Amino acid sequence: MPDDLINIAGVKEDFKNSLASAKTFNELDEVRVKFTGKKGALTLLLRSLGKLAPEERKETGQKLNLLRDEIEHDLTTAATKIRAAENEKLELDSRIDVTLTPKNDFNGAFHPVMQTMHEIMNIMQGLGYSVALGPEIEEDFYNFECLNIPKWHPARDMQDTFYLPDGKLLRTHTSPVQVHSMLEFGAPLRIICPGKVFRRDNDTTHSPMFNQMEGLLIDRDVSFSVLKGTMAEMLNAFFGRSLKYRFRASYFPFTEPSMELDIECVKCSGHDENCRVCHGTGWLEVAGMGMVHPEVIKAGKIDPEIYNGFAFGIGLDRMAMLKYGINDLRLLFNGDISFLQSGF
Ligand code: DAH
Repeated sequence: MPDDLINIAGVKEDFKNSLASAKTFNELDEVRVKFTGKKGALTLLLRSLGKLAPEERKETGQKLNLLRDEIEHDLTTAATKIRAAENEKLELDSRIDVTLTPKNDFNGAFHPVMQTMHEIMNIMQGLGYSVALGPEIEEDFYNFECLNIPKWHPARDMQDTFYLPDGKLLRTHTSPVQVHSMLEFGAPLRIICPGKVFRRDNDTTHSPMFNQMEGLLIDRDVSFSVLKGTMAEMLNAFFGRSLKYRFRASYFPFTEPSMELDIECVKCSGHDENCRVCHGTGWLEVAGMGMVHPEVIKAGKIDPEIYNGFAFGIGLDRMAMLKYGINDLRLLFNGDISFLQSGF
């Protein structure tokens, strides 16, 4: 049988083309079956050998053997390549890209009250104040007595105190740090003290633990206008704009005279009589303050004949709520992740 009946070259070319387009094990298997399977092209050729004249059989048989060897060799080589490619893909797919932004995850962030605390601390540090800290478990002396609030004083009723079995208490305000700091650093002095305070109060607008920031300046000839300027500077910087202020006469045992500071409503500026933030008054109470009482300066072992000063106390939780438009105090304390994730 002539070569054109046993088309070795044609089968070889067909095999090479089929092999070139096989990219997966399945496709490779199809090629294997197409040529070496029971009805495969190579198998058929080998079978037809018997029909050849004996003198042609030898030469064509050798050629076919060579083709079979080549096909088997090529199939094995192709299988090795495909396995290597699949392994590489598997490795790439399972590789961890540490630079990818994680899915369903979020970055840590400051709690809005901590954010507020840091913002005000930054502003006050810019005005030359240092940060002083004091104990949360206090002695009656520092929390009350040395702040001009003796045992019989009705002002004690203003602050529902948690007393501890050993006679100590949870500080009801950050004001005790005033005397601690005067005793430790003397005069002149400029400090702020952020921290937790505690009162027996728990309803929708009060939490038994909340955050305050105390400020104290002691120097010679300090005037009330310096206090006013300091408060305006701090609040304008904190809210990022110039607000209207009003000072109302008030009473605190540790300052004389005492004031409370109101700022214009940060939500409606007094233009909305149904405003849920200021309830239509147009004003928000933000701080207590005054000129430090001479008795308090004396308790700090500083001579009130030489030095005077001012002090103020602000509620950090309220400031955070005003700045970030948070309308429910409880959100600050219940650790709700979706609230905390909303970003401040
Ligand atoms: N300690 C006061 C309170 O908790 C706030 C306060 C008022 C602090 C007047 C002061 C001040 O330093 O001068 O209600």
